[in-house]
Amino acid sequence: MVKEITPSMIEEISLLERESFSSFYSDSVLLSTLKAPSFFGLASVDNKVLGYVFSTVVLDEANIDRIAVKKEYRNQKIATKLLIELENRLKEKGVKKVLLEVRRSNAVAIKLYLSLGYKKIYERKNYYENGEDALIYIKNL
Ligand SMILES: CC(C)(COP(=O)(O)OP(=O)(O)OC[C@H]1O[C@@H](n2cnc3c(N)ncnc32)[C@H](O)[C@@H]1OP(=O)(O)O)[C@@H](O)C(=O)NCCC(=O)NCCS
Repeated sequence: MVKEITPSMIEEISLLERESFSSFYSDSVLLSTLKAPSFFGLASVDNKVLGYVFSTVVLDEANIDRIAVKKEYRNQKIATKLLIELENRLKEKGVKKVLLEVRRSNAVAIKLYLSLGYKKIYERKNYYENGEDALIYIKNL
């Protein structure tokens, strides 16, 4: 089931952050992220949080800031479902386009975004601390 993220999910999201990202959000960053007025996030829940997506909404534009699925639940379309539901909810809010950025090496995430119709618009060279490029994708809703 896909649900809107609530502060009660913070502990589980924090664990998932740590298993999914080398530069994970600390608990205090997570808390302030979730409290920001521009924040909109969804979680896939089945007794526990299996995955989540964070977005920031500014006027008619949204940015996908984070998406992660628990390791043992990956490759079961959980991220696909989260993104489809996110796009539907954003559309209801009047959002017209969604942007996101991804590391060039993250082939699985790139495949996910391409399968949902995201198009690459530009590249930021040496964007990450390890010198890796960021690829910027967009989708018009
Ligand atoms: C990226 C991530 C969110 C995808 O979640 P997921 O629930 O496994 O994704 P889905 O099952 O919806 O799969 C989406 C696509 O990716 C492909 N994919 C998923 N896992 C894969 C794997 N291990 N190897 C190859 N392809 C894979 C699927 O084949 C699918 O494409 P398809 O349309 O051809 O079937 C997940 O791998 C993850 O949490 N990664 C770590 C965090 C991260 O990198 N986030 C993105 C950057 S912010």
